[in-house]
Amino acid sequence: MITGRPLFTTEQIHEKVIELAGAIYRDYTGKEVLAVGILKGAFIFFADLIRALKLPVTVDFIVATSYFKAVSKGETTIYYEPREPVQGKNVLLIDDIIDTGISLNYIREKILAQRPESLKICVLLDKKERRITNVPVDYVGFNIPNQFVVGYGLDYENKYRNLPYIAAFKKET
Ligand code: IMP
Ligand code: MG
Repeated sequence: MITGRPLFTTEQIHEKVIELAGAIYRDYTGKEVLAVGILKGAFIFFADLIRALKLPVTVDFIVATSYFKAVSKGETTIYYEPREPVQGKNVLLIDDIIDTGISLNYIREKILAQRPESLKICVLLDKKERRITNVPVDYVGFNIPNQFVVGYGLDYENKYRNLPYIAAFKKET
């Protein structure tokens, strides 16, 4: 169940998205970005972020999973990856949250093997405390403590993704 008040309200998320888009814009001015969203979790953040980004953007997605019922399996499975070659592109990987870092690290290495011109990572939420694999993250929205969160694309058993805010979640026992 959802516990307490929203951790981040719709307004707070919106402001953060604008701030992140500004930082990305400053780093990429004059360049084209290939924005790669990691599904499913990133779909809402991805849609908001690229619409705030005043740059030429092409989009693609990776469908990956590494999570099972709030407990990381510690392994990553990829179901879909970009069809267009990423070689020579400025790739910006966009994810909802980085937790252990295992899935982003795995995805990052797969993309790097295809020789992009550059590769940066943007996440809305960072649970630093839980990190197992060291992944360089270039843009972080909010740092959060070690608690399970849902909403704004983030799920528990594929539910709550449509909440327009982010809230802490406790499994009912
Ligand atoms: P990692 O490989 O442990 O970094 O896992 C990252 C993925 O696990 C994220 O992209 C999310 O899909 C999922 N995840 C991690 N923490 C949470 C959470 O608090 N709520 C919902 N999904 C989470
Ligand atoms: Mg995810």
